[in-house]
Amino acid sequence: MRDAYALIGNPVAHSKSPVIHAAFARAERQDMSYGLIEAPLDGFEKAVGEFRRAGGRGLNVTVPFKEAAFRYCTRVSERARVAQAVNTLVFGDDVYGDNTDGVGLVMDLTQGLGLSLKERSILVMGAGGAAQGVLGPLIEAGAGRLVVANRTAERARALAARFPPAQGCGFDAMGVEPFDIVVNATSAGFAGEQTPLPRFRPGMLAYDMVYGRDTPFLAAARAAGARASDGLGMLVEQAAESFRLWRGVRPQTAGVLRSLRGG
Ligand code: ATR
Repeated sequence: MRDAYALIGNPVAHSKSPVIHAAFARAERQDMSYGLIEAPLDGFEKAVGEFRRAGGRGLNVTVPFKEAAFRYCTRVSERARVAQAVNTLVFGDDVYGDNTDGVGLVMDLTQGLGLSLKERSILVMGAGGAAQGVLGPLIEAGAGRLVVANRTAERARALAARFPPAQGCGFDAMGVEPFDIVVNATSAGFAGEQTPLPRFRPGMLAYDMVYGRDTPFLAAARAAGARASDGLGMLVEQAAESFRLWRGVRPQTAGVLRSLRGG
């Protein structure tokens, strides 16, 4: 039987992860499968248990199960411990959890989009699971000023307090001073909803972690002359990191990203 991996989440139907991992497996000549598991909202542990009993070797974890996955592990990486969220599970003698989201974002910003993060001012909008995974790696990559703004200000303040020197505030206190990079880590675009917009200006980057759709956030950034990017590159990079954890090789990402973009 081929080594089995999958993405677990709810919803998962439109995920590009199976295509990405199939391309990686082909390029690296790895005999493996990668499927999709849509678990009921209260059925994460049961679904993972069934997958493991059937011989499953590892899982990617997406919304809304990243915190549940963290609790499920018997051993976690330092970055997963700090984020308290896991997007990659490795099943062996124990259950190992890591979080490759943050490093995926940093890789896309630095390698994919060619930015230096050193001393850059960065605004992260949102304070949920998606934001939680990326603050540590952004700080490690040398970010200068780091502000977390959220609809519920208290949640942003509580999250930022775990990641000094990040500061947390409500959307009303994002300020008028433009940032070098604004990352939309809210789930608003997902639901076709809109957050209040930060100040965009030419030369800055607006990055939406959502992929596969043009969110109001990205459209507004582009209209203001800013550079705009969806989260497809982050998805491919975090997938490459997960693949490395499972298979011991890190696949090339640029070609896969190009083909996903239809190029
Ligand atoms: P995820 O794991 O995707 O981050 P989450 O933990 O439910 O999911 O967090 C969703 C984030 O999107 C939160 O920061 C949420 O703001 P609140 O903490 O105030 O709920 C934000 N969000 C969702 N819908 C939003 C909307 N319509 N406008 C602004 N923020 C929104």
